[in-house]
Amino acid sequence: MKKLLLVLTLVLTPALGWSAAPGGDMMDPNVNPHDKASLQRGAQLFANYCMACHEASMIRYNRIAQDLGIDEDLVERYLIFKPDTLVQETMTNAMSEEDAERWFGVAAPDLSLTARRHGPGYIYTFLNSFYVDEDAATGYDNTVISGTAMPHALESLQGRQQGVFEEQDGEEVLVGFEVEEGTGTMSESEYQAATQDLTNFLDYVAEPVKAERQRLGVWVLLFFAVFTVLAYFLKKEYWKDVH
Ligand code: HEC
Repeated sequence: MKKLLLVLTLVLTPALGWSAAPGGDMMDPNVNPHDKASLQRGAQLFANYCMACHEASMIRYNRIAQDLGIDEDLVERYLIFKPDTLVQETMTNAMSEEDAERWFGVAAPDLSLTARRHGPGYIYTFLNSFYVDEDAATGYDNTVISGTAMPHALESLQGRQQGVFEEQDGEEVLVGFEVEEGTGTMSESEYQAATQDLTNFLDYVAEPVKAERQRLGVWVLLFFAVFTVLAYFLKKEYWKDVH
């Protein structure tokens, strides 16, 4: 029995660990792999605002077309900006790693698996935590990756977000954010919804079969439930003669 408990603990501990995001409190993006409209909006935001620097090289455009219910010619028109790219190809960009390092100091990481590695909350919180820092090379700092080399790619949507500081024990501590009015094209709730869609898309990219897995999971559990009842009556039948 003790051995069984030990094995169960070893098997279950890492699974539980995954749900906790590193680096303090993360906002919950409420990802939903079944919400295709959200995933489509997220895909478009990703292609428009992120792919200049980032890739999602583990997913093909035609897989996205199939999973998200978009026609392949729409995918070609709205998601593919790199010349001569076919829908059978993966979401890569034209930037070489050397150029990226020269421009930003670090290469922008491939975002294919970021949602699995750090959790979707990490991406969502990161996108909502840029605040103006005049001393930073990009003009922004971020609470999730402090001193980040990534510019605030969604500044035109969100606007200029300032950090709100309070003095605690003689130290300036960041306690919140405030967006300068009229500097972005979206309201606060629209920006949160847009970054939720974007996070939802990156969470889908990190595990494209998630929606299918969850759908099948329900049937598997139902099967077990029915099978348990059958097995119970079968057992009763067999043991009837033994007693
Ligand atoms: C101008 C180039 C550029 C654009 C555009 C850009 N990023 Fe980044 N991004 C970077 C760089 C460079 C880093 C590495 C930052 C660091 O380590 O300080 C990064 C890091 C990240 C990370 C952290 C990854 C990790 O493994 O910790 C996430 C998440 C991310 N970007 C998401 C996005 C999203 C979503 C968009 C589109 C809205 C976007 N980025 C647009 C350059 C960019």
